[in-house]
Amino acid sequence: HDLELSESGFDDADSPDGTVEVRVPLMQGRVDVKLERVELGLAKARLVIREAIRNKDKRPPLTDRDYVPVGPVYRNAYAFHRSYLEMEKLFKVYVYEEGEPPVFHDGPCRSIYSSEGRFIFAMEMENRMRTRDPELAHVFFLPFSVVKMVKMIYEPNSHDMEPLRRTLSDYIDVLSTKYPYWNRSLGADHFMLSCHDWGPYVSSADGHLFSNSIRVLCNANTSEGFNPSKDVSLPEINLRTDIVDNQVGGPSASRRPILAFFAGGDHGPVRPLLLRHWKGKDADVQVSEYLPRGVSYINVMRRSKFCLCPSGYEVASPRVVEAIYLECVPVVIGDDYVLPFSDVLNWPAFSVRVAVADIPNLKTILAAVSPRQYIRMQRRVRTVRRHFMVNGPPRRFDVFHMILHSIWLRRLNVRLHGQD
Ligand SMILES: *[C@@H]1O[C@H](CO)[C@@H](O)[C@H](O)[C@H]1NC(C)=O
Ligand SMILES: *[C@@H]1O[C@H](CO)[C@@H](O)[C@H](O)[C@H]1NC(C)=O
Repeated sequence: HDLELSESGFDDADSPDGTVEVRVPLMQGRVDVKLERVELGLAKARLVIREAIRNKDKRPPLTDRDYVPVGPVYRNAYAFHRSYLEMEKLFKVYVYEEGEPPVFHDGPCRSIYSSEGRFIFAMEMENRMRTRDPELAHVFFLPFSVVKMVKMIYEPNSHDMEPLRRTLSDYIDVLSTKYPYWNRSLGADHFMLSCHDWGPYVSSADGHLFSNSIRVLCNANTSEGFNPSKDVSLPEINLRTDIVDNQVGGPSASRRPILAFFAGGDHGPVRPLLLRHWKGKDADVQVSEYLPRGVSYINVMRRSKFCLCPSGYEVASPRVVEAIYLECVPVVIGDDYVLPFSDVLNWPAFSVRVAVADIPNLKTILAAVSPRQYIRMQRRVRTVRRHFMVNGPPRRFDVFHMILHSIWLRRLNVRLHGQD
């Protein structure tokens, strides 16, 4: 037992052993020297990070030309920084070249599913943390887009997802026949990424993909098999244009007269409860399905202290990142959702979580946050914003690199070694 990281991220407490050991069949009785070398690099990184977790209070912050993570928004700022620097030094992703656009190597770059396309494109353009030599790779990326599959392959209103599932299982068949890597680990060092609601269901087309691979999903619903120790919660970001900057920034607390705000469709399991309890009931808690004509959604968010982010058709809501962009403290309402980057970020420092059963107590819960506490939380929202920023090309510590870092942590939790 030599695991250094907790199941899903950094913890100040001693970490439980969450390493998954995968025995790799020997090829013609030979030890896979290149794999051993890859694993040795990871073992060294684990040691360095474990050291950082132990010594976080006794060390001066690491130097960094761009940004030094510090403070309560992180579960362990020092260990995160150490791990991030190790990732930059070592981590190599191999992107399978098979598959034709638009279903492969392509994806949506606007709309609520933009995280899917943005990541796929950024990965295609990536140099530093990418390798063209699969023998040097720590992880293998399956570059398909469920959003594009839905567009190209799904028969509208048919409710038949089988063609999508077949496309994916055929793809894995091709890769596992052509290369040794899938069979070697049964998918444990492979990852997929999807922001579409159906991502989890499509991923179940292959049992190993579902239960062994790193699945990076917006629909991070723990009641639908999302496993935080191996899967990654992907932020849902509704990009309307290429320029994110004009969606960013907001006034201080004193210029936010509304306590809490939500406007959005009445769908999914959570919102009907929210609307039933709060719609038109209280001037401080402004909850409705539609905004009056001429009223800007973004402006109301900027005038609100808390922005309510109830789950919709699925657990994730683009409102969480919208709120963070507009410096409104997010209130996440829903029970089965694993928040993005919760391996690194200490969400309770800059957001409020409300269980569905507590919807009737919403106002009491939010009113209990003192003005001083609110000012602190809002300042922290501004701090974490960089981790949700979409940049083209990506910049250090932004959303693309945070996603990669989450994948890196999951890969560190897996050890591959040859069978004796
Ligand atoms: C991987 O396993 C599958 C199923 O057992 C097999 O059909 C395929 O040929 C194997 N791939 C390689 C490269 O040996
Ligand atoms: C999460 O998954 C469970 C099981 O499928 C489902 O009942 C629940 O509604 C989902 N949660 C949301 C918010 O979609």
